[in-house]
Amino acid sequence: RRGNTNGGFSLPSPHPSVAHPTTPDVDGNGYICASELGDLFREVGSPLPGYQIREILQKLDRDKDSQISLEEFTIFQEMKDDRIAQGFRKALNKKEGIVAIGGTSEISSEGTQHSISEQERFAFANYINSSLEKDPDCKHVLPINPNTEHLFKAVSDGILLCKLINLSVPDTIDERTINKKKLTAFTTQENLNLALNSASAIGCQVVNIGAQDLKEGKPHLVLGLLWQIIKIGLFADIELSRNEAIAALLEEGESLEELMKLTPEELLLRWANFHLKKVGMSISNFSGDIKDSKAYFHLLEQIAPDGSKEDVPRVDIDMSGVYEKDLMKRAECMLKQADRLGCRQFVTATDVVSGNAKLNMAFVATLFNKHPALTKPENQDWVLGSNREERTFRNWMNSLGVSPHVHRIYGDLQDAMVILQLYEKIKVPVDWDNRVNLPPFKGIGGGHLKKIENCNYAVELGKSKAGFSLVGIGGQDLYDGNETLTLALVWQLMRRYTLNVLEDLGHGEVAGDDLILSWVNKTLAEGEKSSSIKSFKDRSIGTSLPVLELIDAIQPNSVNFELVTTGTLSDEDKLNNAKYAVSMARKIGAKVYALPEDLVEVNPKMVMTIFACLMGRGMKRA
Ligand SMILES: *[C@@H]1O[C@H](CO)[C@@H](O)[C@H](O)[C@H]1NC(C)=O
Ligand SMILES: *[C@@H]1O[C@H](CO)[C@@H](O)[C@H](O)[C@H]1NC(C)=O
Ligand SMILES: *[C@@H]1O[C@H](CO)[C@@H](O)[C@H](O)[C@H]1NC(C)=O
Ligand SMILES: *[C@@H]1O[C@H](CO)[C@@H](O)[C@H](O)[C@H]1NC(C)=O
Ligand SMILES: *[C@@H]1O[C@H](CO)[C@@H](O)[C@H](O)[C@H]1NC(C)=O
Repeated sequence: RRGNTNGGFSLPSPHPSVAHPTTPDVDGNGYICASELGDLFREVGSPLPGYQIREILQKLDRDKDSQISLEEFTIFQEMKDDRIAQGFRKALNKKEGIVAIGGTSEISSEGTQHSISEQERFAFANYINSSLEKDPDCKHVLPINPNTEHLFKAVSDGILLCKLINLSVPDTIDERTINKKKLTAFTTQENLNLALNSASAIGCQVVNIGAQDLKEGKPHLVLGLLWQIIKIGLFADIELSRNEAIAALLEEGESLEELMKLTPEELLLRWANFHLKKVGMSISNFSGDIKDSKAYFHLLEQIAPDGSKEDVPRVDIDMSGVYEKDLMKRAECMLKQADRLGCRQFVTATDVVSGNAKLNMAFVATLFNKHPALTKPENQDWVLGSNREERTFRNWMNSLGVSPHVHRIYGDLQDAMVILQLYEKIKVPVDWDNRVNLPPFKGIGGGHLKKIENCNYAVELGKSKAGFSLVGIGGQDLYDGNETLTLALVWQLMRRYTLNVLEDLGHGEVAGDDLILSWVNKTLAEGEKSSSIKSFKDRSIGTSLPVLELIDAIQPNSVNFELVTTGTLSDEDKLNNAKYAVSMARKIGAKVYALPEDLVEVNPKMVMTIFACLMGRGMKRA
């Protein structure tokens, strides 16, 4: 189906965004997805099993959108120490006349066609430019010139990244912990630690990115991180628990439970089609299907304010642009209308016409966020508590780069594929070849028996290999997405992961609660601090003082105690201290996933992870 005549691959098009019949990117969207990768290996005569394909994807896919860019693929081919990459290179070399497959970033003579990464750089620079425009702490780097490499320099002191993270998930970073003035190599490093550890905490996968990469402004790593941060913000409200009006998107005979299983991408498509249906249109992706701008024109017309809300004036979309023959000009007319809705963001006319899937999705998410034009169905009542613990666990696993991305723990773990990947992260070997049914799951009921088998195996591993306590938990419970039981298993995975990090530091002993507690007490005493804790349930932890003092004992004089409230504390005081403590922990290099609320409420599980992370950080100091 690739239409090769030379039996192999030629060098790719210099413009990855334009479909080219001889690149591994078959559908021409600028990315290689799992199935394209599989085809590629088959065609060079070295087919790989699905799990290895996923491994490669995982290794390269820094922004976790389950596809890799041509540039990332070039990196893969050059990996010297990677067995699969070596095999691939060898197989490829046997084919005649082929050197490498990858993307380049040449700009054509007209200067209009940019590579995917240049399109992204342009889009992100503009987004940052407008969204942080009013922030006085970003004055030194804004506005960012979107036409140059300026963006990569602008992120190098960490301030902008901290601000952007906080914009995507408000209140993630305590303002007081950012170093702003007279930055040195050390204080810059602290800002970057704060940014990277906070990015992990909101669910970004940063395992391949270090502070040094950001300092040097490595384009692909910076773009990958920025996209993850921006996407988390864009998708934050595309979730039933955050926006009940999304229930209006329920289809005939569909349950709320089924609707909640949709990914934000799927919900966005559903939303666009909900509006497009009224004019008899539909789209199935944000690439090929939007290139002619027609769907966009109609979507804008449907969602434009109709004047029924008091303080929102009516906007009539000028549809005349639909008849413009030239696609670029038509896209530009469309974007002018989007601008009238305050939504001209992320895409240029070129990005629309070339069907850049990532940027167009960001554009549609912007439309949704500003003008959802949905009404919550009446006589529909339900309780959808958004569970803080669930969110923390989810962010933790996503930050480790599990694939696919987990949007909701109950439901997304049904086939146990993610749980099995997590076992590998805690060094419990998984027999992928003999014990795991790999997707796609086909057969009766979407292959539910195969999924249950995987779940059974996941429980078995926990009991026999990991030594977890899984009393009363069966594979069926994971498959059913039973909240309590799923969280019970996931917590044991996260706990083990946290303790493993300590053991990796060569502590010798098997790490456990007691070891951490006595280390905390000892370190506090050695640092001449007044706090001590009896357990992870100790009520004094609610003030965050033991945490802050421990941080200051690990890194002397890092905490500004003038900012810490002591004595009798109101709830607000406690929360303020906790915010400061969590951000400070991240700033000195502890990858803390817990939230300030966990400290205030003394949630013993999350409290334990905070102290364990700090212990890990403290031991590295030695
Ligand atoms: C930066 O953004 C602001 C607000 O959107 C805009 O007025 C300004 O022209 C932009 N500057 C550049 C260089 O893009
Ligand atoms: C983070 O967001 C919160 C809430 O929007 C805000 O109060 C705080 O000042 C922000 N911090 C930073 C570092 O921008
Ligand atoms: C987008 O969907 C259309 C059908 O609606 C299809 O023809 C096209 O190949 C799809 N493009 C991509 C990149 O998936
Ligand atoms: C989940 O499992 C627990 C323990 O077996 C049970 O009490 C609870 O009813 C189950 N929840 C659901 C929604 O089935
Ligand atoms: C920590 O120190 C306090 C006060 O010295 C003591 O009461 C407590 O038993 C100690 N806990 C552990 C686990 O060492």
